[in-house]
Amino acid sequence: PLVPVSQLLAAADAGKYAVGAFNCNNMEIVQAIVDAAEAERAPVIIQASQGAIKYAGLEYIVALARLAGEKASVPVALHLDHGTSFAQCIQCIRSGFTSVMIDGSKYPLEENIALTNRVLEVARAVGVSVEAELGKIGGTEDDIHVDERDAFFTDPAEAKQFVDATKVDALAIAIGTAHGQYKGRPELDFDRLAKIRQLVNIPIVLHGSSGVPEEDIQKAISLGVRKVNIDTNLREAFVDGVKEAIEKNPREIDPRKILGPAKTKMSEVIREKIRIFGSNGKA
Ligand code: G3H
Ligand code: 13P
Ligand code: ZN
Repeated sequence: PLVPVSQLLAAADAGKYAVGAFNCNNMEIVQAIVDAAEAERAPVIIQASQGAIKYAGLEYIVALARLAGEKASVPVALHLDHGTSFAQCIQCIRSGFTSVMIDGSKYPLEENIALTNRVLEVARAVGVSVEAELGKIGGTEDDIHVDERDAFFTDPAEAKQFVDATKVDALAIAIGTAHGQYKGRPELDFDRLAKIRQLVNIPIVLHGSSGVPEEDIQKAISLGVRKVNIDTNLREAFVDGVKEAIEKNPREIDPRKILGPAKTKMSEVIREKIRIFGSNGKA
């Protein structure tokens, strides 16, 4: 069965490692995630974004992940990534998600707290865990200049106020990562991360982790990151696999001969990430 993310993060906190949260859009990705987790004996989080729900449909995502969780010999969670509203979180909870993210980071602090608390009240009643976000993580297209960092990054005092007022299960923070492919090496604000974690003492979530070098990911984990989100690296592996298969045999007409290698490539990337996060051998 699928387990709540909070259960996986509590174990990660005790063991000082991070659980990988990988975005899925279709069956091949779900299978790649679970195959990799089983091969590494690692707990794993399958997550669905707004785009994934639009593309595959909520029912398909839930059916795929539920089956994966039932068949897997390692703990698997299904998480809503960047939930946009109270209604969407409730819809996902009712459909079988074991964890939801309510992303109220675009609202003023008090509104973000109120929205997160509404979701928490329902989620708590049914044993679903909740992730919230504070600060602006952004896409790589929005260049954040050094003088803007303070305005965009998560404020440690606000993080404490937020966590005190919500008792949320996990907190996504902005310390210099961005979603998508990076132009250069990101400069993460580790001092800020350390300060936040010292003040809130709950599992921290790192978004936009695909372009972050291995040693920076590991440093972030040493400072309290317990969930690391990866999407872009899977997209890259998928498309590389597809291109390679078609280039090898341009006359190929069997989709399985194209998607099979793509799945294998994704699985290899996921195994590598799991080992970087230290969640291998933890299931
Ligand atoms: O959180 C962002 C995901 O990486 C991508 O989202 O599937 O809606 O494009 P999307
Ligand atoms: P990347 O696409 O940069 O890996 O980010 C994934 C993410 O944070 C999903 O919430
Ligand atoms: Zn994200």
